Amino acid sequence: MTDYEALILETEGLTAGVPHRIANLANVSALIYGSVSDLNWAGFYLLEGETLVLGPFQGKPACIEIPIARGVCGAAVRENRSQLVADVHAFPGHIACDCASRSELVVPLRKDGAVIGVLDLDSPLAGRFTEADRQGMERLCAVLEREL
Ligand code: SME
Repeated sequence: MTDYEALILETEGLTAGVPHRIANLANVSALIYGSVSDLNWAGFYLLEGETLVLGPFQGKPACIEIPIARGVCGAAVRENRSQLVADVHAFPGHIACDCASRSELVVPLRKDGAVIGVLDLDSPLAGRFTEADRQGMERLCAVLEREL
């Protein structure tokens, strides 16, 4: 199980007072990928108009543009809430960037109340993510958002 207290403190330590959005997203994607078990992708998409554009990440090369009408990431933006998908094959419109992915957690990133992007985590294990992961990653994003 992920130690979210430690992970959130590390997120704060890495980003507090750093006025560089891309640097903060890059460091936090590396932090998550190195700290959370059973991930095959961890990173960010940033909203440009109606399109999510690939941001800093760890894992295999991924889709560059995702229209918000599509995918688990698009659903997180449209519904303005996290998406916890136990089996991506059962999610209508799921976009398979890496065919190894079986489950996914997507958390919206917000600035001044508006969604500006998403944190996307993929796992090769079905049902990898729990409610505790959703809550932990939402808390982590709330800390990261202070420096975006
Ligand atoms: N699976 C995502 C697309 C992004 S990749 O997983 C990195 C989706 O359906 O939105």
